Amino acid sequence: MKGIIFRALEDLVVAQHGMQTWDSILDKVNLSDRYYLGPKSYPDEELFSIVTEIGSILNVELPVLIRSFGEYLFGYLAKSHADIVSQFQTFESLIEGIDGVIHKEVKKLYQEPNLPSILVTTIDDKTLKVIYDSPRKLCFCSEGLIYGAASHFGIQVDIEHPKCTHHGADVCELIVRKTA
Ligand code: HEM
Repeated sequence: MKGIIFRALEDLVVAQHGMQTWDSILDKVNLSDRYYLGPKSYPDEELFSIVTEIGSILNVELPVLIRSFGEYLFGYLAKSHADIVSQFQTFESLIEGIDGVIHKEVKKLYQEPNLPSILVTTIDDKTLKVIYDSPRKLCFCSEGLIYGAASHFGIQVDIEHPKCTHHGADVCELIVRKTA
């Protein structure tokens, strides 16, 4: 996982709980003095152990925690890659452009990124179906990113998650419905 994802998580923890909490989390998972650099890759396990530690400190279930991290992450990525996100004028075009535009740009900017496959189809003028497929199983992060994208465009969405790899499905299905 790229350092930029860890940096976003650090930013969120520091903003809400202070630098000492971030340092003590790193100590607890034996990553003391780890300083994440945006373009560098780090083992996925480091992210998972940091997130698990945060979940147990805050007593929050992992799907809930990862979803809210995803929501924060969207704003973080939109700021650090404003040139990419500002190409999109609507929520729908951004979601439809995740694989073919956004992550395609990410592949040019970062060395060997590990990206999911995200297939989007339109169901009706208020509803999109998003198929998320990745060995990293970060579907809850995807949900959060989509909520973050919705608030970026000043709209509200509901997401149903009828098929999930955490419950035995081959891929995750997210039904994204505009509510306001
Ligand atoms: C709603 C929009 C988006 C969704 C649903 C999404 C989904 C994801 C997910 C779930 C991952 C984790 C890797 C995995 O699951 O296999 C990821 C990785 C990543 N995404 Fe996106 N993404 C979105 C928008 C963006 C934007 C706007 C940017 C920045 C331009 C971006 C850049 C990245 C980067 C740098 C990584 C890390 C790759 C790595 O660690 O090697 N994404 N994306």
